[in-house]
Amino acid sequence: KRLILIGPPGSGKGTQSPIIKDEYCLCHLATGDMLRAAVAAKTPLGVKAKEAMDKGELVSDDLVVGIIDEALQKPSCQKGFILDGFPRTVVQAQKLDEMLEKKGAKVDKVLNFAVDDLILEERITGRWIHPASGRSYHTKFAPPKVPGVDDVTGEPLIQRKDDTAAVLKSRLEAFHKQTEPVIDYYSKKSIVANLHAEKPPKEVTAEVQKVLS
Ligand code: AP5
Ligand code: ZN
Ligand code: ZN
Repeated sequence: KRLILIGPPGSGKGTQSPIIKDEYCLCHLATGDMLRAAVAAKTPLGVKAKEAMDKGELVSDDLVVGIIDEALQKPSCQKGFILDGFPRTVVQAQKLDEMLEKKGAKVDKVLNFAVDDLILEERITGRWIHPASGRSYHTKFAPPKVPGVDDVTGEPLIQRKDDTAAVLKSRLEAFHKQTEPVIDYYSKKSIVANLHAEKPPKEVTAEVQKVLS
């Protein structure tokens, strides 16, 4: 399966990805996670991306298209993939179609994590992540067994620099202006499945499984 997860910040893309990935043995490519790793390692890509990310704005299409183009060549991504956080502009969606056409492939399904903006602030400001694995927790909705510590590795959890109420405003603005048109782009191809992503995580997982079965 070739899947795209699309939705506003905090809508649950990163929470559902590992579950879908394991069930269908797909590779999981999250441009946000890849960019954060590049920023942390201070690579040339990370240096270019940091300013936009800190402000909650989108990184340039060329940079993210480059990352995805490279990642999709990996052997583990040939059978299928989950794209989490990409494409986020219509240009990115068109470039992805071109990349896949060359391989005679296409996107099978777009999962639209629809959530009202109003509930996202609490989700974002309560989030704690384990950077190495990308696992996310929430102080109220998905607390770790020991506060501030990853369940699997015992390593410390951190908060993302862009997870403040102020930066969330810019991220939401970018979503409505630049990313919602991507949902229309795929709606025209009749491959969008709308999820009730405001429901509890387990119920969202059940909806995803129903769509994919
Ligand atoms: P990115 O990392 O993609 O961030 P985002 O889109 O803002 O999405 P989030 O990771 O915040 O949300 P999520 O849906 O994964 O939520 P999660 O499951 O963790 O991008 C970051 C930045 O990188 C961008 O701003 C941009 O600068 C740049 N970038 C990335 N891709 C780009 C691209 N293609 N083009 C240009 N720039 C790009 O859940 C959130 C919290 O809620 C967690 O604490 C979780 O435990 C909790 N939770 C999850 N589901 C539920 C539920 N159902 N009920 C209650 N709580 C829940
Ligand atoms: Zn995420
Ligand atoms: Zn909107």
